[in-house]
Amino acid sequence: MPSLLQFLPSPTKRAPMGALPLLLVAALAFAGPQPAAAAGPPAAAAPVVTSTTAASMTLDALAEAHGRYFGSATDNPELSDAAYTATLGSEFGQITPGNSMKWDTIEPQQGQFNFAKGDAVVDFAQQHGQSIHAHNLVWHSQLPSWVSALPTGQVRAAMENHITTEAGHYKGEVYAWDVVNEPFNDDGTYRTDAFYNAMGTAYIGDALRTAHAADPGAELYINDYNIEGSGAKADAMYRLVSQLKADGVPIDGVGFQTHLAVQYGFPSGMRANLQRFADLGLDVAVTELDVRVQLPADAAKSATQSDYYRQVVEACLGVARCVGITVWDYTDKYSWVPSTFPGQGSACLYDENLQPKAAYDAVRAALGGGSGGGDDGGGGGTGNSALLVQYRNNDQNATDNQIKPGLRLVNTGGGAVDLSTVTLRYWFTADDPGGSPAATFDTWCDYAVIGCGTVTHRVAAASGSPAGADHYLEVGFSSGSLAAGASTGDIQLRLNKTGWTAFDESDDYSRTTGASYADAPRITAYLGGALAYGIEP
Ligand code: XIL
Repeated sequence: MPSLLQFLPSPTKRAPMGALPLLLVAALAFAGPQPAAAAGPPAAAAPVVTSTTAASMTLDALAEAHGRYFGSATDNPELSDAAYTATLGSEFGQITPGNSMKWDTIEPQQGQFNFAKGDAVVDFAQQHGQSIHAHNLVWHSQLPSWVSALPTGQVRAAMENHITTEAGHYKGEVYAWDVVNEPFNDDGTYRTDAFYNAMGTAYIGDALRTAHAADPGAELYINDYNIEGSGAKADAMYRLVSQLKADGVPIDGVGFQTHLAVQYGFPSGMRANLQRFADLGLDVAVTELDVRVQLPADAAKSATQSDYYRQVVEACLGVARCVGITVWDYTDKYSWVPSTFPGQGSACLYDENLQPKAAYDAVRAALGGGSGGGDDGGGGGTGNSALLVQYRNNDQNATDNQIKPGLRLVNTGGGAVDLSTVTLRYWFTADDPGGSPAATFDTWCDYAVIGCGTVTHRVAAASGSPAGADHYLEVGFSSGSLAAGASTGDIQLRLNKTGWTAFDESDDYSRTTGASYADAPRITAYLGGALAYGIEP
């Protein structure tokens, strides 16, 4: 039913401040980004938070320092797990009910509403000072069969009644609503669900207007998956929300579910894609983040997973209207992945024993926090400095007697970097290190744009012999400065065992088969000895 409300301007609202104490917010305000100046410390991508403060801050507090929230999905059965709720209630500033507000839970029979489960999640969030991104009102899935069985002429009234009753029940309690969930197929065509079959695309605007009438203060979202990067489905969503805005339909945001998988690669151009939606005058949010791997997980998959989490955080922080990030539950103990994608799992920031993983450290670091103790075996996480390492493999033979990494160091920050404070580590296995005598190495710089004379190199044994990495090639610089935005250019390195026995590089931690330069999170960089880029093995 078209409503006059569609002509009212959407009230200006901002993301809730979550559970962060106001004093801390005030303190952080002084530490915000500084205006560009000719002199002074390099401008960091993140607000400057002193490391001792940052190390003790929660993910939500770190996000709050950027004006974002960091949230988690949860579900009713988990709320009786005290160890789980302790972290849910403290680390996160926002909650999304994973199932408790879906149609089949709320209105399993026509006209019979049951809000107990949704109310329990709202109670938890309110007790912990957390905002609620409510999920969802209109979706093809977890939809009771009575809706699909309705004559098409009755679907609209049923949909409007469902929205009015549910959004009305939670009026004033929730920050946002996913009004329409997953309207598109992967090729960008519309899903032919009960709503589309009854009303065509008009159901979307009708649902948004109905939700706005029921709770005028809630931010209204359309939410979908596989729209994070560029592609046909993202384009379809872009056309839809452009049209809704042009028509004056109340829509405030687009939710990017961001259910990623290591084996499918990172969505191309995520930041730019979020930005084009923001440029329409919409908020954007990462609403259901997880990064699954094919089991068993190993060091390489874990490193890629951490890198994807980092990239998602950086994409959101790079878009002013990206209001926050929600993980689709924070622990593997309650992840939806293993039951939905057989053979896959380990998708979350915390493991099944509720211990933070390397991905957690990567998220912390990307938010400007220090290491929070994630179990990455190397005691570090992805750094948040302005350094980026790129790598190409100059020797495709994995079983000969030399290893030939090509490396480039890029300064992505706003100030110059003193190269004499930087070291890089390429992690590999010697394969017969315990031989007699134990392996020793020769290392070589064959070519460097900046001159091999300033490039230092040596091999050292890794402590603890992590998988795929009992040694590392350490590369340093005797002098020089890398200007903001500059790259060292190609540095061609080579190493061999002094006994010239063969390597088996196939399991080496830092190696890929890529023959052209690409970002290399498994090659670590250090500033003054502190991890500044990449994930240690
Ligand atoms: C999932 C829940 O996490 C599972 O418990 C349930 O069995 C199926 O739905 N996109 C969405 C979410 O919008 O509602 C889905 O949640 C995950 C995919």
